[in-house]
Amino acid sequence: MSNKWNLAQVPAQPGRVAVVTGANIGLGYETALELARKDLTVMLACRNVSKAEAAKARIVQAYPSAKVECLPLDLSSLRSVREFAADFRQQHEKLDLLINNAGIMMPPQAVSADGFELQLATNYLGHFALTGLLLPLLVATPGSRVVSVSSLSYKWAEIDFADLQAKKGYSRRKAYGQSKRACLVFAYELQRRLAAAGYGTQSVAAHPGLAKTNLDQYFPALIRPLGSLFLQPAAQGALPLLHAALAPTIQGGEFIGPDGFQQMRGQPVRVDSDGNSKDPRVAARLWQASEELTKCLYLNGAGDN
Ligand SMILES: NC(=O)c1ccc[n+]([C@@H]2O[C@H](COP(=O)([O-])OP(=O)(O)OC[C@H]3O[C@@H](n4cnc5c(N)ncnc54)[C@H](OP(=O)(O)O)[C@@H]3O)[C@@H](O)[C@H]2O)c1
Repeated sequence: MSNKWNLAQVPAQPGRVAVVTGANIGLGYETALELARKDLTVMLACRNVSKAEAAKARIVQAYPSAKVECLPLDLSSLRSVREFAADFRQQHEKLDLLINNAGIMMPPQAVSADGFELQLATNYLGHFALTGLLLPLLVATPGSRVVSVSSLSYKWAEIDFADLQAKKGYSRRKAYGQSKRACLVFAYELQRRLAAAGYGTQSVAAHPGLAKTNLDQYFPALIRPLGSLFLQPAAQGALPLLHAALAPTIQGGEFIGPDGFQQMRGQPVRVDSDGNSKDPRVAARLWQASEELTKCLYLNGAGDN
């Protein structure tokens, strides 16, 4: 029998509560489906309510006893993030798992409701604010974890502090890479800050390798079908996220990805990342910029956001 981690090893976890962002489709949906199967209460945090309700119906059809809820969340709007967090905190007194999954890849240049470059806003800044706003619940919940979904494409760019919002020139690829590096830097730094403050909540990063989802929607129509030939299915791509969320051996500050060739597919294992992503000086600059942009202050007054 393989000694690799798999979902069959994970016991049912009734009473635990998870939030999954971007849970209506792709990796977020597959993650929510498996969490619901393990008897967690799962909140589908999605920007489109009817898509979220359709995903909920699919999960309940698969597992009729699933406890699935929906609340609107548009990560490209800080107002929406604040409304989601306030509504969630009204409805729930605890939060065991926050899966920061939602994302967009390489759209034409656009800005968010708050004037931020859209990929940075959606993939990173919205999740930075969301995590900060939900932190009081997380730190009050024993065994809680935050999973930040990064990507192999974090290697495409470092964080351009001189032009964070790509005002001097927009490269779709660079902006996506920057946003995914920011998610990784954030995951490591959140763990450092939680540990320094004496909280037991763990912050873990994960990446799915390459999986066939709707993420390639901005790719040319002729190229998209090629993906189906070599990308792993979304359910397989979700395994590193689920491993990061559920495996008891996980330590805060770890990065989980697939074990196959170039980490593009396979079973979830601990992986490493480059020195820049782990550099506390980069993290400190990013954190300061993120607090200034989102007006969301962590830990010191985390409950007051
Ligand atoms: N697929 C891969 O190979 C791969 C590789 C590396 C990393 N990732 C990462 O994995 C995560 C999930 O992506 P995926 O592959 O599952 O893509 P996907 O199928 O396109 O799903 C993305 C999800 O994010 C949601 N979303 C987009 N913008 C949002 C916003 N402003 N507010 C709230 N939700 C928003 C989408 O909602 P709508 O359905 O309403 O658009 C959808 O639910 C992303 O962070 C991505 O960067 C994926």
